[in-house]
Amino acid sequence: MGIIARLATVAAVLAGHGLTAPTSAAAQYCDASSGICYSEVTVGVAPITWRIAIPAVGEGPFDVLLQIVAPKRVGWAGLAWGGGMLYNPISLGWANGNTTVGSGRFATAHEQPDFYEAANHTILKGSSVNETHWTLTTLCQGCSTWVHNGGSKETLDPGATAASFAFAASATPPIDVTDPGSPIGIHSEHGIFTVDLSAAKSDQFDAWVAKLR
Ligand code: HEM
Ligand SMILES: *[C@@H]1O[C@H](CO)[C@@H](O)[C@H](O)[C@H]1NC(C)=O
Ligand SMILES: *[C@@H]1O[C@H](CO)[C@@H](O)[C@H](O)[C@H]1NC(C)=O
Ligand SMILES: *[C@@H]1O[C@H](CO)[C@@H](O)[C@H](O)[C@H]1NC(C)=O
Repeated sequence: MGIIARLATVAAVLAGHGLTAPTSAAAQYCDASSGICYSEVTVGVAPITWRIAIPAVGEGPFDVLLQIVAPKRVGWAGLAWGGGMLYNPISLGWANGNTTVGSGRFATAHEQPDFYEAANHTILKGSSVNETHWTLTTLCQGCSTWVHNGGSKETLDPGATAASFAFAASATPPIDVTDPGSPIGIHSEHGIFTVDLSAAKSDQFDAWVAKLR
């Protein structure tokens, strides 16, 4: 499977860690306890694992199951569904005590993204924090379609074998980790990766979401 892992910023690394080569891997990941299968990519200097599952649909829009697994040194991590920071929904995640928070954002400039009310992030079972990592498991409704700059409507193609997404992360947590609308600081790394969305499809999707609610 083709994977492009490109770190646009390698000079600034997450706290306490030296420069390491960008790592990436793409695979199908099935959770042993829930039986839920995701397309999975591990990328970046943190590194962070991104898992995506979608329903077995022929066209968008569709809901998305997103799981982010990040080392605890990651203060926030975000995925931009259109493949860049600007003009697309961003799913943000971070740790809050023994659980995690999910939040939608939308940026129209390279500055603090706005809170994005058109995408809902429902926190699901499997969201947790342990000694080493935090895990966000969330249902995003509203992440697969959006209005781009200039007004064109964008919709993810569920048949894409290499959908291009962007990510960013910072070692500094949001100002108020209890508030899904909290301001965040700028990333210390960002990059892009591709995900095989067609392999992320399952006709079990609705049952999986119900199981995790
Ligand atoms: C306070 C919050 C943020 C600030 C101040 C900020 C600022 C910036 C700046 C200044 C750049 C460099 C632009 C350039 O030199 O071309 C950039 C690039 C980028 N940022 Fe952010 N950013 C923020 C949040 C985010 C979030 C939440 C994401 C989530 C994915 C993100 C993803 C990216 C990506 C992928 C790039 C590469 C260029 C692009 O795709 O536009 N940023 N950001
Ligand atoms: C998580 O933290 C809350 C609040 O401190 C506590 O009530 C709850 O029992 C904790 N849950 C676990 C699984 O540790
Ligand atoms: C913490 O959770 C992560 C993600 O599920 C897992 O990979 C890791 O083994 C866990 N660590 C401990 C100490 O249980
Ligand atoms: C998000 O939640 C609000 C409030 O429940 C609802 O009105 C809206 O339709 C939801 N949006 C999506 C895209 O599901």
